[in-house]
Amino acid sequence: MQIAVIKETLKNENRVAITPEITKKYLALGFNINIETGAGVKAGFSDEEYAKSGAKICPSAKHAIKDANIVIKINAPTDDEIGLLSPSQIIIANFQALAQKTYISKFAKKQLTCFALDLLPRISRAQSMDILSSQNNIAGYKAVIEALNFLPKAAPLMMTSAGTISPAKVLILGTGVAGLQAIATAKRMGAQVFASDIRPNTKEQVESLGGKFIEIKTDEVTETSDGYAKETSKEFQKLQKQAVSEALKQTDVVITTALIPGKKAPILIDYQMLKNMPQNSVIIDMASAYGGNVEGSQDNAIIEKNGIKIIGNSNLASAIPFSASRLFAQNIYNFVYNIVDKTTLKLNLNFDDEIISATCICNNGHNLLENK
Ligand code: NAI
Repeated sequence: MQIAVIKETLKNENRVAITPEITKKYLALGFNINIETGAGVKAGFSDEEYAKSGAKICPSAKHAIKDANIVIKINAPTDDEIGLLSPSQIIIANFQALAQKTYISKFAKKQLTCFALDLLPRISRAQSMDILSSQNNIAGYKAVIEALNFLPKAAPLMMTSAGTISPAKVLILGTGVAGLQAIATAKRMGAQVFASDIRPNTKEQVESLGGKFIEIKTDEVTETSDGYAKETSKEFQKLQKQAVSEALKQTDVVITTALIPGKKAPILIDYQMLKNMPQNSVIIDMASAYGGNVEGSQDNAIIEKNGIKIIGNSNLASAIPFSASRLFAQNIYNFVYNIVDKTTLKLNLNFDDEIISATCICNNGHNLLENK
């Protein structure tokens, strides 16, 4: 069995789907690894390190993929990459499947079998394969570092002979994996942290990290049975906007992470609310690729409104590519380990296993995403 790894070609993507360390693990299982030359360079892994770990370095993506049984990637193959793939090959990646439903039909047409790790069920057995958690953890950390870099104020309280500097105030909207890591990071930097989410049980998690929770008092059910956020009513949104508007008056940094799977991201800060924020404050909109949580924010762009910097970036994990790739590569390895028979190295696709049924969006050309 051969596994192929190619260079990620999307703009601003620095990660790679395998590290030299994980290469050794695949080899120990019995796989061969083909990797396109330079695939790991942006993440800090050289061809020499991969070769030393036992991978075969290939001169192009085409060479790496040619005889592969499995192709592992960070992002779903692009149109050009689909052109290099052959029927029956297995692709494992983050397909952003719910947001890209029409794109997935291209994989079916090519008779491929695709596993979207972004659709992994949030069950304990799947935690070690959970790319959303591993990458959002890194992204939440980087969001704080990035915001403080742009902020013309210091984060911690400083008492000096020249006077006292009060701590920066950081507001986190959406306290899933990224938001909680952002709270922990901002606290470590010495900032005062406030946070809000529509899932009421996140209050305890925010407080356990030392953040102050901004509660929206309502009886509305805002969470699905599997623990994800739901779209909220107009009345709820009004209450939330009032609470957030009030908090913005004293906020130096806002980090927004609010997402609803398969839907456009909710707008949590509109133009009117922006007027409440102090000059020189900074917003990082981590939902920018899904429509954004801040009115007018743009993905992969920095815009300025009323003296406030609004930075749209939904791929902050890629800005720490060495660490992010190590976790992503381990997540994929754990997934592959789960779908192969360790003696024969043949695929063992048991669709009664919810990890397999939930992530398989395309099986030998059959589009399974339509039913998800
Ligand atoms: P996500 O990336 O889907 O969303 C980020 C956050 O935005 C969520 O906390 C969500 O409640 C919040 N949000 C959505 N709409 C909002 C709005 N209008 N206003 C304010 N906040 C809003 O979330 P993530 O990080 O993927 O976590 C989703 C769920 O999965 C959570 O319940 C989390 O605890 C759970 N989880 C479970 C894991 C497991 O293995 N058991 C691992 C990781 C997450």
